[in-house]
Amino acid sequence: MTGAARRITIADLQRMRTRREPITMITAYDYPTARLVDQAGIPIILVGDSLGMVVLGYESTLPVTVDDMIHHGAAVVRGAKRAHVVVDMPFGSYQTTKEDALRNAVRIMQETGCGSVKLEGGMRSAATVEYLVNAGIPVMGHVGLTPQSVNQLGGYKIQGRTPRDAVRVLNDALALERAGAYAVVLEVVPAGVAAGITEKLTVPTIGIGAGPFCSGQVQVVHDMLALDDDFTPKHARRFLEGASLIREALVEYREAVEARTFPTEDESFFLDAARRARVEARIAQHTVDAAHEGVDAEVAILSAEGEPETL
Ligand code: KIV
Repeated sequence: MTGAARRITIADLQRMRTRREPITMITAYDYPTARLVDQAGIPIILVGDSLGMVVLGYESTLPVTVDDMIHHGAAVVRGAKRAHVVVDMPFGSYQTTKEDALRNAVRIMQETGCGSVKLEGGMRSAATVEYLVNAGIPVMGHVGLTPQSVNQLGGYKIQGRTPRDAVRVLNDALALERAGAYAVVLEVVPAGVAAGITEKLTVPTIGIGAGPFCSGQVQVVHDMLALDDDFTPKHARRFLEGASLIREALVEYREAVEARTFPTEDESFFLDAARRARVEARIAQHTVDAAHEGVDAEVAILSAEGEPETL
């Protein structure tokens, strides 16, 4: 899926599924990252509630609010001109009533300009998904390991490890497809289970820790760029040693400031000789008391000297 200037739609994603073209999705939480993802030709950006952990420093995704998602989602939409942007509905924004879910989904769509929302849970969320879809909101589902239920699951554990549990994950995915979800994320399930679910569904499956047989893959951008090198999940590959590269650059910057090798003349601004003499003479004769007494006079003198040059 490259070359198109228009924004990617859920119909494009379904076409990719039908043609069995692998679908790439990645998280982004801000404008510059969204621009880079777009420039890399990645068709889907997820503004995941993982932002709570990787950007805001919480221990889980549970504290993330609708306002947080809107703040970050809008920045991502401003940065991505081509990718389909899907924004996570955070914990508590869709579990109460279907009406609450619709109100929150409408806010997210209207205030970010995103193309769809994602929410967690299979059979238990299916009625809500159907309600949103009937209201015209495209919904991506999310089953297997659902981080918003971490307290119920007893930790971030592999899901679908027994025949009974594998069928539960399959039924969750099927319930979402029946409810109208346009795609389903499969998180941390054995590769064979994810392959079976992918074959049974007609909508794309997007795997994370779900093996190579899903219709697509999603990664948390901080994991694949190793922006936090203290921890990399087993399912992530470090495509860049981001943290160590950034740290090296920051140390270089500090050392350059301390050694007074930054900034150089090229990185500074200078006045021509005549102006410089006038400006430096005025600074030399200026006293702190004069500044307090004559701010207005000062402003008048400065504006008489003309507009400052732009950078
Ligand atoms: O919030 C997130 O980043 C996610 C992905 C892990 C799928 O939901």
